[in-house]
Amino acid sequence: MASKAMPSALKFDLIAKCSVTKARASTLHLPHGPVSLPIFMPVATQASLKGLTPEQLEETSCRLCLNNTYHLGLKPGQATLDAIGGAHKLQSWPHNILTDSGGFQMVSLLRLAKVTEEGVRFLSPHDGTPMLLTPEHSISLQNSIGSDIIMQLDDVIATTSPDLARMEEAMKRSVRWLDRCIEAHKYPERQNLFCIIQGGLNLDLRRECCKEMVARDTPGIAIGGLSGGEEKYAYCRVVDTCTDLLPEKKPRYVMGVGYPEDLVVSVALGADMFDCVWPTRTARFGNAITSTGTLNLRNSAYADDFGPVEEGCGCICCRPVAEGGLGITRAYVYHVAAKETAGAHLLTMHNVYYQLNLMRQIRTAVVEDRYPDFVKEFFAQLYPSKD
Ligand code: GUN
Ligand code: ZN
Repeated sequence: MASKAMPSALKFDLIAKCSVTKARASTLHLPHGPVSLPIFMPVATQASLKGLTPEQLEETSCRLCLNNTYHLGLKPGQATLDAIGGAHKLQSWPHNILTDSGGFQMVSLLRLAKVTEEGVRFLSPHDGTPMLLTPEHSISLQNSIGSDIIMQLDDVIATTSPDLARMEEAMKRSVRWLDRCIEAHKYPERQNLFCIIQGGLNLDLRRECCKEMVARDTPGIAIGGLSGGEEKYAYCRVVDTCTDLLPEKKPRYVMGVGYPEDLVVSVALGADMFDCVWPTRTARFGNAITSTGTLNLRNSAYADDFGPVEEGCGCICCRPVAEGGLGITRAYVYHVAAKETAGAHLLTMHNVYYQLNLMRQIRTAVVEDRYPDFVKEFFAQLYPSKD
């Protein structure tokens, strides 16, 4: 285990705890400003949220977004990142950035990626040359990106894998890779390294991993290896088991989770941070997230629907013109969605706003100690009883 005590570039203030569930409200002070937790972080893969300018992303009230080391490392590449002074400057984003370490993206995107003790081997998608992403290289890239939160390189196996021995190997390797990441990290006083708990759906492996990772005392802790199509009950058991073993005074990030109902349940299980490509990706397919479910605005039922995407939504596209919004109607999105990118941009703004606003409502409910009632109302709206 690395012996040096790691400095931290964050401050975590616990504001309130639910008296019934494990939900918490807190403020996370990061190098580029404070963020309120629980939080949803939209994913800006190539240093931009597909279709949105930094101003438009800011307008959704986003103050912490995700970038991928894997994508930035390939394009623009480390030399350009160093020359420009990091990803905040590259994308004119004055707020916080979290970067994922890259291994997960490679393993999930490139079927030819191969994991060894050294790192993740893969063929460059640009020109097919063999490449190796090691824990040291991932941290070096994230140091060049300058993100406020950086993630360790981890060995991720699909939760649905039946190979327990491989699962145990991946968990133990992730612990060893964390030690290498801690050693390689050049700027712990300005970038926060988070560990990632692995262990699949096996609770004993998860418990062992929590013990090892917590001992390394990183500024924040992620729970990984989920969101891979496992059953909801199995997912909940893993999150519940892990949060019981994690320190109260550190942020807890469940990776790859973003359906509204999963956010609501995971907060009750004690998680604080989430990310997912789904809200922005589904917007590009014409889908609007609303409190009564997802609507596909490419459906001809909306051709003459002159209401906003969601009644009462405070996002810039739904807000009436008289209130400084764009006053966009469902009919407008329907008519432009098929041919023009404008529909996708508008729905991206709406969906990101929806997710951030849901998290704000969750936080207020926790602060006012009425989270169980909030959860009941949320599910009653989403799944109204038929009688
Ligand atoms: N994104 C979703 N799940 C994971 C995970 O387990 N590890 C990493 N690095 N990223 C993720
Ligand atoms: Zn809206």
